[in-house]
Amino acid sequence: MDGASLEAIAQIARSCGAYVLCDEVYRGTDQEGNGFTASVADVYEKGISTGSMSKTWSLAGLRVGWIVAPVDLIHRVQIHRDYNTISVGMLNDLLASIALENRTAILERNHGILRTNLSLLDAWIAKEPLLSYVKPKSGTTALVRVDADMRSRDFCVALIEKTGVMFTPGSALDVEGYVRIGYTNNRDVLVTGLARVSDFLRDIAR
Ligand SMILES: Cc1ncc(COP(=O)(O)O)c(C=O)c1O
Repeated sequence: MDGASLEAIAQIARSCGAYVLCDEVYRGTDQEGNGFTASVADVYEKGISTGSMSKTWSLAGLRVGWIVAPVDLIHRVQIHRDYNTISVGMLNDLLASIALENRTAILERNHGILRTNLSLLDAWIAKEPLLSYVKPKSGTTALVRVDADMRSRDFCVALIEKTGVMFTPGSALDVEGYVRIGYTNNRDVLVTGLARVSDFLRDIAR
C-alpha cells in the first residue's frame, strides 16, 4: 500500500479515534525503487506497525519481529509479552542484528530474486493461454486466474500428483478459479517447475 492510500485510511481512522494495525512483514519487497513502501507508524499517530525477519530478510527461522506504535500502547504490549514470553532467544537476536547491520547486501540479493523471478513468471503467464493475472507490485506470491473447467483444489491436487509442482488452490483463500503461486524460490527450480506446468496445462486443454 503506498503512502497516499495509508494517509487516506489514517484520515478515516482519525475521524473516530481508531487504531490501525498494519502487518508490514512484506515491507521491503516492492518491485520498484528501494523496495520499501510507507509504514503506518510514520503516517498516523495511532498507527501500529508490525514486522519481522521472515520475508524481506529471508530469516523466518529466527522468529524475531518488532512492533512500532504509540508509547502508551507499547507499554501495554511489553507487559503482555513479558508475561507470556519473557525474552526473545539471545542467539536469534544476535543473528537478526547481524543481518540488519548487513541490510544492503541482503536486500540486494533478495530484490534480485524478487524482480528477476517475477519477470520470468510474467513472461511465462503471457505465453499461457489459460492463465491471466494482475502483476504483483510487491510480495512473493501471485494470484493467477486459471481458465479451465476444474475446481482449483482438483487442479492443484492433479498438478502436484502429475508434476510435483505445488500451487495453493484459490478455494483455500475464498477465490475459486485462481491459484496462488510462490515465485521466490531457486531460479532453476522455478523455470523447471513452470515448464512442467505448461505441459500439464496443454494436457488439460486437450
Ligand atoms: C502476511 C503475513 N504476516 C505475517 C506472517 C508471519 O510472520 P512471522 O512468521 O515472522 O511471524 C506471514 C508469514 O507467513 C505472512 O504471510
